[in-house]
Amino acid sequence: MERVWLWRLLFLLQACDFCLVTASGKQWKKLRERVSEAVKGYTPCNPDNCSCHLSVLQHDLQPFKRGISEEVMASTIQRGVGAHYQIIGHKLYREQNCMFPARCSGVEHFILEVIDRLPDLEMVVNVRDYPQVPSWVQPTLPVFSFSKTSDYQDIMYPAWTFWEGGPAVWPIYPTGLGRWDLMRDDLKKSAAQWPWKKKESRGFFRGSRTSPERDPLILLSRENPELVDAEYTKNQAWKSEKDTLGRPPAKEIPLVDHCKYKYLFNFRGVAASFRFKHLFLCGALVFHVGDEWQEFFYLQLKPWVHYIPVKQDLSDVRELLQFVKENDGVAEEIARRGKEFILEHLQMRDISCYWERLLSEFGGLLAYKPKRNNSYNQIIHRTSKTEL
Ligand SMILES: *[C@@H]1O[C@H](CO)[C@@H](O)[C@H](O)[C@H]1NC(C)=O
Ligand SMILES: *[C@@H]1O[C@H](CO)[C@@H](O)[C@H](O)[C@H]1NC(C)=O
Repeated sequence: MERVWLWRLLFLLQACDFCLVTASGKQWKKLRERVSEAVKGYTPCNPDNCSCHLSVLQHDLQPFKRGISEEVMASTIQRGVGAHYQIIGHKLYREQNCMFPARCSGVEHFILEVIDRLPDLEMVVNVRDYPQVPSWVQPTLPVFSFSKTSDYQDIMYPAWTFWEGGPAVWPIYPTGLGRWDLMRDDLKKSAAQWPWKKKESRGFFRGSRTSPERDPLILLSRENPELVDAEYTKNQAWKSEKDTLGRPPAKEIPLVDHCKYKYLFNFRGVAASFRFKHLFLCGALVFHVGDEWQEFFYLQLKPWVHYIPVKQDLSDVRELLQFVKENDGVAEEIARRGKEFILEHLQMRDISCYWERLLSEFGGLLAYKPKRNNSYNQIIHRTSKTEL
């Protein structure tokens, strides 16, 4: 009798082993199908006249299609949520104060590049991280912000960090992350040194604990360092090891040194994270956590086509890492498409072009002729050190 039970038990165990294998086989099949369906349904965007990201500005300007009155603009300026700019006779003027001068300067660089082709206009540019126009506020005020979620109606503009004013990360980026053109070159070189076959098949993340949302990845790394190497670095507010989840802070790692890993993680920061675009250029497969926070170019990047979407609570991250490790060819293809997209559709000229289309169309919506405020200073182009 006992022996029969034992046999039954053994049989069950074997059967279960077998059923696990088929389950994971089926699971991978489902994920592989999701990738191939996404790729089949994907039409690459048309780069002519910078139409690639055009639908984003059309969507953002939709609430203003009946025109923007002088009164609405005046109350937007009065709320003081950003710097007031005026473009009059192809010259740029700004109110005296800017909360973050390097950020304003990073914005002004692009406006000055295209100013000869812009109509007279004025606008309020929020250079804080957080958007300012919740959807429920009526009437919708025209405020330019670099990032938002679908709960906001801010008008997205290409972030200052494409030029300057990005977060300073000591000691690796003491003057702040900026100069996208130079970063592109550096990352392309690093990617060439780390082709896919040479990369380590591990997840990688270094960053500070801006939110506990990142904790599950750090904990997974402590439990299974072969799968993912993820550690917290110090941030400005660091006081004790509690701020790095009970361990000493890890060293900062420059973005170019991320390229030796196959799977790189992107989390939101306060708003969207500036590092997202950089990770692709490593030729690595990007694991993008959560999908709420947007920048102007995110919409054209598609889950499964260009990156691996990860649930905000990271509940699926172990499975997804396992999937890409066991489906290396699929992973490499997604990484390649992601890199190509950023190389082709997020060049400096795409940034300038987006600014030009955005401001031209916005200017066309003003239902009055803006008058220059004589107390404002003209902003002129300062040659930056790297250009000398
Ligand atoms: C691009 O713009 C030019 C000038 O406005 C226009 O003639 C041309 O047809 C446009 N091309 C596309 C593909 O939209
Ligand atoms: C011009 O700007 C100053 C300083 O911001 C402000 O006090 C004043 O009301 C503005 N004038 C007009 C006509 O908007």
